Amino acid sequence: MCGIVGYIGTQVATEILLAGLEKLEYRGYDSAGIATVWEGDVNCVRAKGKLHNLRTKLEHIEIPAQIGIGHTRWATHGKPEEHNAHPHLDTAMRIAVVQNGIIENYRELREELKQKGHQFRSETDTEVIPHLIAEFLKNLPSPPLPTSPSFFLEAVRQAVKHLEGAFAIAVIAADYPDELIVVRQQAPLVIGFGQGEFFCASDTPAIVAYTRAVLPLENGEIARLTPLGVEIYNFAGDRLKKQPRLLNLHPMMVEKQGFKHFMLKEIYEQPGVVRASLEAYFNNDGNPSPINLSLPKEFYADIDQIQIVACGTSWHAALVGKYLIEQLAGISTQVHYASEYRYAPSPLLPNTLTIGVTQSGETADTLAALAMEKERRQGKEAKYQARLLGITNRPESSLGHLVPHIISTLAGIEIGVAATKTFVAQLMAFYALALDLAARRQTINPDKLADIIHGLRQIPKEIEATLESQEKLTEHLAHEFAETQDFIFLGRGINFPIALEGALKLKEISYIHAEGYPAGEMKHGPIALLDAKVPVVAIAVPGSVYEKVISNAQEAKARDSRLIGVTTVNDGEAAEIFNDLLPVATVDELLSPILTVIPLQLLAYHIAARRGLDVDQPRNLAKSVTVE
Ligand code: F6R
Repeated sequence: MCGIVGYIGTQVATEILLAGLEKLEYRGYDSAGIATVWEGDVNCVRAKGKLHNLRTKLEHIEIPAQIGIGHTRWATHGKPEEHNAHPHLDTAMRIAVVQNGIIENYRELREELKQKGHQFRSETDTEVIPHLIAEFLKNLPSPPLPTSPSFFLEAVRQAVKHLEGAFAIAVIAADYPDELIVVRQQAPLVIGFGQGEFFCASDTPAIVAYTRAVLPLENGEIARLTPLGVEIYNFAGDRLKKQPRLLNLHPMMVEKQGFKHFMLKEIYEQPGVVRASLEAYFNNDGNPSPINLSLPKEFYADIDQIQIVACGTSWHAALVGKYLIEQLAGISTQVHYASEYRYAPSPLLPNTLTIGVTQSGETADTLAALAMEKERRQGKEAKYQARLLGITNRPESSLGHLVPHIISTLAGIEIGVAATKTFVAQLMAFYALALDLAARRQTINPDKLADIIHGLRQIPKEIEATLESQEKLTEHLAHEFAETQDFIFLGRGINFPIALEGALKLKEISYIHAEGYPAGEMKHGPIALLDAKVPVVAIAVPGSVYEKVISNAQEAKARDSRLIGVTTVNDGEAAEIFNDLLPVATVDELLSPILTVIPLQLLAYHIAARRGLDVDQPRNLAKSVTVE
C-alpha cells in the first residue's frame, strides 16, 4: 500500500522516478508526487489523482536533478488531496520524505513538534517525519559523531527511533545533495545497485528496468545511498555487511504485452502458472509422497488440526484448501479472516499447524495474525509451540521473514489489482499440500492419488480450451449485463468459494453489487432479493452436489431471475434450465474450481471493460494492503 521510489546517480532523476511510480501504481493511486534536490533547494511537485496528473504537471517543469524520491499514495490519514500527497517537507522546506505505512504515534509527535514551532501543512501521519528529522539536525552536536559518517544519516536514525508503527521511508535534504537515506520497519523496501547509480523502491518492478541486483532491507535497517555506494546500518548505528542478489525478474514480465489490461494478460497466463506449479510440486519419485514441497520431514509430524488465516481472494483459496485437506487428508481445518482472528483467536490446541495465505506476503492483517499466533504459543510446552507455514507469491516478502516454512506460488508478478493468476497458483499450492498430507498419512489410495495428479496434468490444456471458448461468450454477456445493478453467484461444496470469488471479482472491478452464496442457503433469506432484474450465476458441474445446485437454480428461475450456468460441455439437462451457458471441461469434482473460476474472471473483466472502468486499478483498492 503506497509505493515509494528513490534514485541517486548520474541520470536525470525525474523520468526514472515517474517510470518507477508507474510500476508501483498498483499499490495506490489517490495522488502522487516527487521531490528532487537541485541547486541547493528541494523541489517538490505533487498532484491529486492518478500518476498522469503528476506527469502532466511535470511537463512544464525542467529539473535536471540527479537525486530524488517519489510516491504514489493510497490514503490512510487525510483525504486524497494535493496537500496530503507525499513527499512531505519540514517547515523550512529543506527536507523531503516519502513514507509507506502508518506512524501510529503521530498525534503526540505532531503536538510536541508544533509546540517547538514546526508548521504543518497536511493532515497526514507522515508529515511528522521531516519535522522530526529537522529537529534532530538542528540539535546534533558539531562536529559530527565519530561513529556516524553523516549528520543527515544520524538525524534520520535518531528520528526513526521515535516513530511507532510499520513504515518504510525515503528521505532527501537540500543541504545533503549526495545522500538518499532509506529506512525499513515492517514495510517492504528494496535497494537496487546500478553502475554508479542506486535505487530504492517498495517493490522490485519499479527498478527492474535499470538493475537486477537488489538487496531487500530487513526490519530495523537504515541505508545511506550516495553516488559512491550503499552503506547499511541497524537502528543502533552499527554498520552491517550485506551483498545484493540477482533478481529473477525480466522487465518484460511487467509489461502488458499486447493485452488491453494487465488483468486480461494475467487471466491468459494461468495455463502457464499451472504448468509451472506442476513442474515444481509434482516432480518427485513417490517416496514417501509423489509431491515435493521442499518442506522438512519434521514439518509433517503430528498435525492434529490446521487453521488458515487470509484475506480477500486468498481467503477464498483457503476455503478450497480446507475442503481439499479435510476430504483428502482427513485433517480438521478452520479458515479465518486474518483481520478477525487476530482479535479473537481460537482456543489454544496442541499440534496445530497455522497457515497464512497471502499473495503479496505483505497484508498487514495476515502478518499480524501469524505474529500473534507465534507470540501466544511462545514458552508453552512443545506440542503447543507455533507451527507456521506461509503460502505466498513473494517469498522474499515480510511473510518470508516471519514464518519458518514457505510454499512459493509460481504466478510470477501480478500487476492487476484484482487477483487472478495468483488465486489459481494458490489453488495449485493447496492441491499439492492436501495430496502430500494425504499420501503421507495414507488417507488416499494410490490409484485415486495417481488419478488426481493425472487430472491436474490435463488442467493447463483445459484452461486454454476454456479461455478460447469463453472469451467471446463472456464478452457478449458483458454487453447485456453492463447496466445490471445486482448479481447473485451460487455454488456448493468445493465450488462455493468460487461463487464468492466470482462475486468479489465482479464487485471490485465493475462496482456492481454482487453476492456469493452457498446455493442451499438461498431459501433462508437471500431468495427475497430475486426478480427479473437480478441475474443468478450458478456453478453446476458434475459431482456430489450437482443435482442440488440444479434444484437451487430452478428455484431462482421460478423467481424470474435470468440464469447463467457455469456447467460442463454437452450437459443437456443444464442447457434446458439455464438461459446462458459458460461450459468448462468435465473433470474430477475436486479439480473443478480451477476451471470454473476462469469464466467468472472473464465475465467480471469484460463487464468492467464494457463499462469503461479502470480494470487494473479499481477505485479505493490497492494491491498490497499493508495497513490494518
Ligand atoms: C481481490 C484481491 C484482494 C486480496 C486481499 C489479500 O482480487 O486482490 O481481496 O486477495 O487483499 O491480499 P494478499 O493475498 O496479498 O494477502
